Amino acid sequence: MTHLKLYDEKRFDVYPELFGSFLEHMGTVIYTGVYEPGHPTATKEGFRGDVLELVKALGVKTLRYPGGNYTSSYHWEDTVGPKPDRPRCMNIAWQSIETNQFGLHEFFQWAKEAGVTNPILTVNLGTRGIDDALHELEYVNGRYDTKWANLRRRNGRDTPFEVKYWCLGNELDGPWQVARKTPEEYGRLANETSKAMKMLDPSIQTILVGSSTPNIATYPSWDFKVLMEAYDNVDFIAMHNYIDREQSQNLDKQITRASDELPTYLARSREFDKQIEEIEAIADAVKALKHSDKTMNISFDEWNVHHFSGKEPRPWEEHNPVDWCYFDLADTLLFGSMALAILRHGDRVHLSCQALLVNTIPLILTDEDGAAWANPTYYVLQSLLHNITDTTEVVESVLPDGDVYNTNLYADVPIIDQVTIDTGSAYVVYAVNRGLATQNLEVEFPVKVIGGKQETITGNIDDMNTREHPKTLTLHKVDDFSVNVGEMKQAAILPGYSWNVLTFSYE
Ligand code: AHR
Repeated sequence: MTHLKLYDEKRFDVYPELFGSFLEHMGTVIYTGVYEPGHPTATKEGFRGDVLELVKALGVKTLRYPGGNYTSSYHWEDTVGPKPDRPRCMNIAWQSIETNQFGLHEFFQWAKEAGVTNPILTVNLGTRGIDDALHELEYVNGRYDTKWANLRRRNGRDTPFEVKYWCLGNELDGPWQVARKTPEEYGRLANETSKAMKMLDPSIQTILVGSSTPNIATYPSWDFKVLMEAYDNVDFIAMHNYIDREQSQNLDKQITRASDELPTYLARSREFDKQIEEIEAIADAVKALKHSDKTMNISFDEWNVHHFSGKEPRPWEEHNPVDWCYFDLADTLLFGSMALAILRHGDRVHLSCQALLVNTIPLILTDEDGAAWANPTYYVLQSLLHNITDTTEVVESVLPDGDVYNTNLYADVPIIDQVTIDTGSAYVVYAVNRGLATQNLEVEFPVKVIGGKQETITGNIDDMNTREHPKTLTLHKVDDFSVNVGEMKQAAILPGYSWNVLTFSYE
């Protein structure tokens, strides 16, 4: 029996927009993912109705758009105005032809229909700069009788879109990036861009490009240097990290390594905890050096497990598939632990974007002219999104007598990985069982429990959801779970290799 100890007096608020996702003009994310006018379920705007239904059921409110690497050479103004007049362009980041039939207005319309209320836009600070960012901001948020706001009005939208969060470019430290920059060049450009954007619209918050991975030679000195340049004028530092079972994590060199054995793979979420704590430390060092009163928050705006594509690339076609892939139960458990690492640090990580929503290392998979279904990671994120509201707090907790294991890479890995939240009417314990054996968990709450339920994702470790069997791995209710009504002490059984959502309601 493992005991979960809740430090009831140690709590912090988490933000309802904490767990977001990401739409990029990459692969088949947009075209045949969310936009396919010829699809049998298409809405009058050409949005895939089957995908909209899945996104609504997911409950995601925060969504980053339109990239990613795509943004470092894109021209936002090509994406607005009458569709027949929009130019066909080369998407050089992802080697495809961009028709611009889904652009800014379509994105906002789609977001409204999908229930997304908190869009994050990325400006091009690769090939472009301050002027362009100001024009885009004025187009999107401008409220006066001025050139770019009037263009938006002529394109059919009177009122401003009111976008609060703006990314100051994307991964400009990476050798793969169009118009890569040194940290000094980028930091200065980002500082001046953010300053000017806030002069135009003081209501916005901006996100500075941090290291694109902890496995790049310039990590974390990039973060230190760009924060030294821009600390006073930005609100967030961005973090990115994708973890692959085989690929080298050094994105400078795309080499493969021996596949992780399962216990190591399931423990790799520790890299997230470490990276978040390192970036917090760097940001706090800059705060001290600058004698600043401001605490820099973190936007973990790209994170996920990663696999290479299950589809052949079709370079320079209209929707060249990139990273369309299935996730199995092992990937799903690691994904769950990654999400828990973010939640555990929700006092500093106020935004995060699982990347990407559809068809590229996705939550949702689609076939062109065919079905849409969900990878099992979708159900993990859904179970978090459904419980995090304005009143949610993370309750700090430990498993003092929990079993641990060791691998070549990691020592003392807890078999049960968990985070507990208090929603205001229930405690919800999220727990991954990283082991093959069943685990018994006992929790003592500071209140009397009046009801509850256990929901679990479990199966064979290599199970996945396919178009033929789309519901092999979903969150299902455990029938023989019950609570001791009126008691503070409660128990649950966590099946081997499982993601668990244990809800204990109180008065
Ligand atoms: O998988 C998404 C891509 O990965 C993004 O465009 C980029 O920012 C990251 O390298």
